[in-house]
Amino acid sequence: MTWDTLWTNCHAATMVPSSAFGAIDDAAIAVRDWRIAWIGPRAELEDTLEDAGAHEVVDLEGRWVTPGLIDCHTHLVYGGDRAAEFEMRLEGADYEAIVRAGGGIVSSVRATRAASFEQLCASAERRARELLAEGVTVLEIKSGYGLDEATEARMLTVARHLGETLPATVRTTCLAANALPPEYAERPDDYIDLVCERILPQVAEAGLADAVDAFCERIAFDTAQTERVFRTAHALGLPVKLHAEQLSDQGGTQLAARYDALSMDHVEYVSAEGVAAMAAAGSVAVLLPGAFYTLRETQVPPIAAFREHGVPMVVATDANPGTSPARSLLLMLNMACTQFRLTPEEALAGVTREAARALDLADDYGTLETGKRADLVAWDIDQPAELAYWIGMPRPARILRHGQPPCNQWTGQ
Ligand code: NIG
Ligand code: FE
Repeated sequence: MTWDTLWTNCHAATMVPSSAFGAIDDAAIAVRDWRIAWIGPRAELEDTLEDAGAHEVVDLEGRWVTPGLIDCHTHLVYGGDRAAEFEMRLEGADYEAIVRAGGGIVSSVRATRAASFEQLCASAERRARELLAEGVTVLEIKSGYGLDEATEARMLTVARHLGETLPATVRTTCLAANALPPEYAERPDDYIDLVCERILPQVAEAGLADAVDAFCERIAFDTAQTERVFRTAHALGLPVKLHAEQLSDQGGTQLAARYDALSMDHVEYVSAEGVAAMAAAGSVAVLLPGAFYTLRETQVPPIAAFREHGVPMVVATDANPGTSPARSLLLMLNMACTQFRLTPEEALAGVTREAARALDLADDYGTLETGKRADLVAWDIDQPAELAYWIGMPRPARILRHGQPPCNQWTGQ
């Protein structure tokens, strides 16, 4: 049987945790039927090649190849923007004060409710395309700016549509418990009733969500309310994850650990008990340096404790109009190293191997190994650490997603 494609004369950062970056020098990678059919040192290929052959052989001229990048935490679908709020914060207003004054998430809710399916699709596609152009092949998209049945479903339908039309694997997450909508002011438990009795069942029934998220915070929902959301999610057969300890320690991490959360995200204020609970539950920490930077946060997530307890660390954009108007995952690698002191290898693992775990996709994505999906990115770099080193990386030299080059329209290649 012949291979579809053979990438040769390259160095592979496989991200298999064997050696630094799981590197294979002078490597070759063969692709068949969307998957990696063979990977190893080029010198070992000779015999194999005679057997297999390839329709297309690509000489990568010594470039580095990584797995496709994975952005496991985005809020890419929304109406409007929050540039005015950015200016308010620069003049001294803080995020929580803006939220309490009726701004923040709720102002994006107003704009999102007013936007049509087509409008939401067009703007979200533009944002997704920017991520894809820099080598992202898997991304997660959350709802959470609808906060009513119709708009939450519309946001998730947009996300599903992007998964069908873009050369990317899209996982969707229902974040109906993101904030209290204005019509439920002072009635958070009634809103949680709506989430649990109507929004989540409807979304699950329509197959619109792969997971359920919530915002456990003093400006959002407490642990009792979050637990109701988690219980409902589990009853519907959906895994959970949590925006946890972003602005304060609420104990959301321990709660999420009890519900086997896929990930706890932000976690700047997580306690020692929270980290231990994450380790015991096998959860991953999703670090969001774009939000840390935008909010001028000073409390760094407990990186040393994560390392000590073996809690995998993921890096994502948190792309959203309020706290992280980020349009580049690679910039987040740089920020994770500079702000949180991750090593470049940890940062790259955080957007490949560990990010795949956060989306429960590790069987198919996240490392370069035989049998995994052939999501491959070739870079004009001399060493993999450069992916975290440059502030503003040049685009990839080549991309394969499921063994195919994504069409020009989406990647600008
Ligand atoms: O930083 N869900 C909670 N917080 C979001 C911010 C959303 C916003 O301000 O629009 C986050 O992940
Ligand atoms: Fe977020």
